[in-house]
Amino acid sequence: MKAIELRKKYLDFFESKGHTIIPCSPVVPENDPTVLFTTAGMHPLVPYLLGEKHPGGKRLAGYQKCLRTDDIDEVGDTSHLTFFEMLGNWSLGNYFKKEAIEYSFEFLTKELNIPIDKISVSCFAGDEDCPKDVEAYQAWKSLGIPDERIYFFGKDQNWWGPAGKTGPCGPDTEMFIDIGTDKCSKNCDPSCNCGKYIEIWNNVFMQYNKKADGTFEELEQKNVDTGMGLERTAFIMQGKNNVFETEIFAETVAKIKELATEANDESVYIIADHLRAAAFIILDGIVPTNTDQGYVLRRLMRRTIRHMRKINLETSNIELLLEVQKESLMELYPELIENHELIVNEFKKEIQKFEKTLINGEKEFGKISEHLKKQGINKLSGKTIFRLYDTFGFPPEVTEELATENGFDSDIEGFKEFFKAHQKKSRQGAEQKFKGGLADNSEQTIKYHTAAHLLLGALKRILGEHVYQRGSNLTAERLRFDFNHPQKMTDEEKQKVEELVNEQIKRNLKVTMEEMSLEAAKESGADGVFDSKYGTIVKVYSAGDFSKEICGGPHVENTSVLGKFKIKKEEAVSSGVRRIKAILE
Ligand code: ALA
Repeated sequence: MKAIELRKKYLDFFESKGHTIIPCSPVVPENDPTVLFTTAGMHPLVPYLLGEKHPGGKRLAGYQKCLRTDDIDEVGDTSHLTFFEMLGNWSLGNYFKKEAIEYSFEFLTKELNIPIDKISVSCFAGDEDCPKDVEAYQAWKSLGIPDERIYFFGKDQNWWGPAGKTGPCGPDTEMFIDIGTDKCSKNCDPSCNCGKYIEIWNNVFMQYNKKADGTFEELEQKNVDTGMGLERTAFIMQGKNNVFETEIFAETVAKIKELATEANDESVYIIADHLRAAAFIILDGIVPTNTDQGYVLRRLMRRTIRHMRKINLETSNIELLLEVQKESLMELYPELIENHELIVNEFKKEIQKFEKTLINGEKEFGKISEHLKKQGINKLSGKTIFRLYDTFGFPPEVTEELATENGFDSDIEGFKEFFKAHQKKSRQGAEQKFKGGLADNSEQTIKYHTAAHLLLGALKRILGEHVYQRGSNLTAERLRFDFNHPQKMTDEEKQKVEELVNEQIKRNLKVTMEEMSLEAAKESGADGVFDSKYGTIVKVYSAGDFSKEICGGPHVENTSVLGKFKIKKEEAVSSGVRRIKAILE
């Protein structure tokens, strides 16, 4: 069964069960600064999972292009992909565990004809936040899955979400296909990564909302969110050994092997995966840069280029490879056809920019490694990694990869220290410029900047923890602040928000700034955009105990200078997004 037939079968099945088929969203989310990429099918549905009415009703199904970059270093084996397609069905406060599991079971055994004895499942084992999922267990058992193939695992395996820091989440039940190889050890079970059990589908029972303080509150609306991996399920249905043998990748892989003189599987799979992921990011309008989505794109492209060189595959073949990829994928994703030229051009430009750097950096690395080997040193220092980065433009992750391939450890922590010191210096320069640039208006605009933080803090307290910032625009005359919220604010809510902000102003809260790693900022519960930039140090601004946000600043030193905060207007920007205009008097 080809992937396109699998997708059709899935959508037809759920349509026959009363689900509305919803369109696929871009892989680069629109109007959502909290994430860089769509990582799951539920992502575009968050407002509806939190209670907003969906025009398609309470039963939805669809396919979604997803990108996950957490695993980027693991790509190269046979199961990790950065870009993948997720098939999903959703119940928005309609059916729940029993029915969801029955649908999954029927689809697997009747539509895909997978023998029951090849199916294993796992359910949530229970902990202090949520009890053992007996309901899911009973549903599987009554369908004929025996006890010995129903496993119970904790949060690390059987819990999904929230997709960001807060939001809908819950226990899940996962379905695995046993591909028939021997157990890798006595304890081998579906949580094992040896490749015997392939997880193909996850049903999440979204019954909680995770709050900023880390606690879970029961959602009024109990949802089901499922995700089936298209590529994985396709390879199983086709009796292949891995995703790269399916028609999605086979031709591209064959071409890479034909053109390269030293093809090793790891590099071949990395190239095949990254070419595809990069193409889909480019067609959503991103170009390679040094920040956010553009940085991820750049990293994917540069890794492709490096591995092409590594297996002696001339980078001038890029157009040919992208052509083969387009032919294999255009039935699934017709959007690749109209964007083909754009994709080819972006790759060519990046090759032109990076290949020289790569050649110089590789040469320098060769010299360094020879020198170290002679001295019997097997670790690359932070300073060396930084010098390759700073002087040769050689990305640290590339250095690290090269180091590993050549039997060296890398002092990445040490590199981060050097990087941090360097960033601090350049940031000081940027701040100087910013202050000067604002001229006469600077003090007033800075006040609005701090007021925007207080406003977010107040909205979260009055409207709920689901609120996060979707955008803002500050001038010396007013602030404009966009945030997600399913409905119009009532007059009473607006008044309460205003009062709460004014209360904080009167409390004379000290505004303080701390620098920390992105991870530490996340841990500390700060609001803000959490992207996955490598080694990033961020500034976290706090206004007393009331607000804590990742932000570049600058801010006033004390809230007492803000004056009186007044909301002038509250209006809709788009579905699920509201805008407040406010002034300081
Ligand atoms: N959102 C769930 C997942 O990504 C279905 O696994």
